Amino acid sequence: MYRSRLVNDLSDITLDYVSSINDDSEIALYDILGSQAHVLMLYENKIITKNDVKKILYSLEELKNEKFDTLSSAEDIHELIETLVIKKAGMVSGGKMHTARSRNDQVVLDIRMKIRDDINILCNCLLDTIEAFVSLAKNHQKTIMPLYTHLQQAQVGVFSHYLIAHADVLFRDLDRLYTTFVHVNESPLGAGPVGGTSIPIDRHSTASMLGFDGIVENSLDATSSRDFVAEYVSMIAILMTNLSKIAEDFVIWSTSEFSFIELADEFTSPSSVMPQKKNPDILELTRGKTAEIIGNLTAILTTIKGLASGYGRDLQQIKSSIWSTSKISISALLIIKSILLTLRVNEKQMKKATESSYLIALDIAENLVKKGIPFRTTHKIAGSLVQIAHESKKPLNKINIEEISKVIKGTKIEPKLIQSIIQNTTITSSLKERKSFGSSGYEEQKRMINDRIKKINSYRITTTKRQNDIIKAFENLSNKVQFIIK
Ligand code: ARG
Repeated sequence: MYRSRLVNDLSDITLDYVSSINDDSEIALYDILGSQAHVLMLYENKIITKNDVKKILYSLEELKNEKFDTLSSAEDIHELIETLVIKKAGMVSGGKMHTARSRNDQVVLDIRMKIRDDINILCNCLLDTIEAFVSLAKNHQKTIMPLYTHLQQAQVGVFSHYLIAHADVLFRDLDRLYTTFVHVNESPLGAGPVGGTSIPIDRHSTASMLGFDGIVENSLDATSSRDFVAEYVSMIAILMTNLSKIAEDFVIWSTSEFSFIELADEFTSPSSVMPQKKNPDILELTRGKTAEIIGNLTAILTTIKGLASGYGRDLQQIKSSIWSTSKISISALLIIKSILLTLRVNEKQMKKATESSYLIALDIAENLVKKGIPFRTTHKIAGSLVQIAHESKKPLNKINIEEISKVIKGTKIEPKLIQSIIQNTTITSSLKERKSFGSSGYEEQKRMINDRIKKINSYRITTTKRQNDIIKAFENLSNKVQFIIK
């Protein structure tokens, strides 16, 4: 339809090469809504007549319910929709729909509308997943487990502390996406191909009809920048990296060696040959799909980095990377949430693991510090005690007074003091005494959980408001359309 100065048509193979029609199914509805707002604005500013706008709006309304023929000769959804409107409304009216805009502002409008919806969906999914972490944490404030560094047992902790750590990471993901929305929710419509238009349009009016908070002012910036896409996909790449880490913990913890958790059957896969197998394939795929999203981010950044200012067709290629990023991350969050809600936690095994090593060594050293001994000295004493216990294969509290005397030889420390401390320092006493802000001590759990619940509720309110603002704008737009076509 656009080949006004071009004599020959594209061959089938070239058309297939340049066409984005398959990727465009994700933005077809946004394109129709954008066109409706655009022609309403043209009418309200006396650029087209009531008869024109009526015919165009009617045709666009019909197209909302039609399945598009992706085998048409149109290069993309914008060309296809315009062709169909002209067919329905006639050239005299339909031919005016594309006045004072370009596919360049049109496509980026559609992408922004799609991403802002996806961000709202993702924020809700994130809140659900965070809520699942927090509700599990509520039930496991007394579930003792080892905390690891270097995947070696480090300190004794409680499971809720672990779960809140991940909830907090996801809160930051939520916050990042929440901020990205601000950069996305600006309208580029009316920027034209690159430099604006001589037709007296009102860009602010279309922006508000489509529920945008403002406009991307500079028409060159509006049509050719995709930094907001890179920002969105970066945020998701970080989010997926975080989910991937959780997946890795759960893969390790569900091994028979660890047995800290058991995944519900519906989140595991069998083996085609070994009948006993219950494999954590779904979690492994979270790791694998994270790699795919990092690949999407790389594709987007490398597309943008070398592009001269002004729209370049390379930009067409990034659309599929955006769609796949949204689709994967939404599913990943839904699945992690469901895994959490169906997880069997093997509390006995977690506790047993803490008892089989010397996890309270630091707590012993700190209890000696409380008696006025320098930490560097208590570190040495606790370390030597662990060494003796390890060599003689007995628990720390079974070390006798002779062995203790050897450890503190040359100091003024009473062996009896050490003995009483190693006998009275237990996993439970340690967790009771661990009171530092944000620690895995018992008392901190309740405070942190209550705080996170409040945070979830306040994010829910603001996210819902954002969604409702868009819904309200679309309702108003639809009312305007209905009023004209009735
Ligand atoms: N299909 C194109 C895309 O997805 C639309 C914009 C085409 N603009 C142009 N001047 N060729 O980016």
